[in-house]
Amino acid sequence: MSSHLSPGSFTGTSPVWLKEPEDVNALMPELWSRTAEKRDGELHIGGLSVPELVANVNTPAYVLDETDFRERARAFRDAFAPADVYYAGKAFLCTEVARWVDQEGLCLDVCSDGELSVALRAGIDPERIGYHGNNKTAMELRRAIVAGVGRIIVDSFEEIERVGAITAETGTPARVMVRVTAGVEAHTHEFIATAHEDQKFGFSIAGGAAFEAVRRVLAHPGIDLRGLHSHIGSQIFDTAGFEVAARRVLALHAKIAAELGHVMPEMDLGGGFGIAYTSQDDPRPAAELAAGMREIVAHECRGLGIEEPHLSIEPGRAIVGPAMCTVYTVGTVKQVALDGGVSRTYVSVDGGMSDNIRTALYDADYSATLAGRASDAAPVLARIVGKHCEAGDIVVKHEFVPGDIRPGDLVAVPATGAYGRSMASNYNHALRPPVVAVRDGVARTIVRRETVDDLLATDLG
Ligand code: LLP
Repeated sequence: MSSHLSPGSFTGTSPVWLKEPEDVNALMPELWSRTAEKRDGELHIGGLSVPELVANVNTPAYVLDETDFRERARAFRDAFAPADVYYAGKAFLCTEVARWVDQEGLCLDVCSDGELSVALRAGIDPERIGYHGNNKTAMELRRAIVAGVGRIIVDSFEEIERVGAITAETGTPARVMVRVTAGVEAHTHEFIATAHEDQKFGFSIAGGAAFEAVRRVLAHPGIDLRGLHSHIGSQIFDTAGFEVAARRVLALHAKIAAELGHVMPEMDLGGGFGIAYTSQDDPRPAAELAAGMREIVAHECRGLGIEEPHLSIEPGRAIVGPAMCTVYTVGTVKQVALDGGVSRTYVSVDGGMSDNIRTALYDADYSATLAGRASDAAPVLARIVGKHCEAGDIVVKHEFVPGDIRPGDLVAVPATGAYGRSMASNYNHALRPPVVAVRDGVARTIVRRETVDDLLATDLG
């Protein structure tokens, strides 16, 4: 069964930030949810043994630490108060999590009819829902407006006319925010940066489209313009980007008041707060982010001589990302010779790009740990790969694992809560894994594993 890896053999090229650990069994607490710990090598979360848990639900499985999720939600709520915190459901949403968001006093950001359906099913007051998207259909807009959604964030001239027409036709007013691009180059992956000029979201402030959008919104009597909305991107650590965005958005906010006579009561600075996936990442605590943002907004408003609009933000990843990990079972261990006399250890697990596309899509870094036992074997550098028919099907590009890692071992990957299950696919007809919530020694499956019947249900034969 076990493959024999020479302890300490340096396999392949390793990134400079990845240091060989002193104890390969130990967790790096910054990467894990609050209740995660190792007991005699066994990973425990929420007071439960993860090996025992997955003996019941099988692998791969997402394990969601409810205590951690709720504490992060509360930390944002308290740090930013009186600002409103909209949890970005795109990071991960299901009915139970929508309820937690509500119970912790957060509002909810949705961006599709599907997400809205989950929110309504969870009993969220529609007033506390924000609706995003750069290409909402008339049908989606109508449903959102009729449901009484608290704010629709408009993103195109066509959408403004669609919303205007629906309010006129149904007699139901709509509250909107205008999504603007502040021209900020966020220091993150190109695909998750959203405030530079050359991309699909929002109206450009610099190019004048944002001002024109506001003018057109104000022409519709059924639309109540609440404010401007800016989201600069995701996995951002540097508050400088928020500062530049806030300055530009507030300057436009003041110009609208001065030139169009409309004082908007609100402003949203979006989400995007980074989390730690590996030792390279050093996220700021919510309190620090809040203090920085509050100061920026207060300072700019003083300078402009305007009243501060009521602020809101939309974190997704920073709340759910670290709260969830993915647990896999190792199926094969293979040594692959590379140039220069080195080799790389490929550890294949029973999931992959269907449950975590982020490594393939964004070249994202993750870490991993052996979850079922302690090992005294020396660490080897490995690549953890999935079971899909694709060479880019990588879960963790580089990680040290015990040299005696073998089929049957459990491997857990931390910080997979955001954009893991929510971007999961059925590639190769994979069955998407369950989400098991754990808290105080109790496990509850809140999203069940898909079955072959689920797959066949949409295939009409
Ligand atoms: N608000 C708006 C308008 C957004 O578009 C997003 C994310 C958020 C808030 C939440 O951002 P967060 O705090 O979660 O970073 N799939 C990519 C991320 C795409 C983000 C899309 N919008 C990833 O896996 O990194």
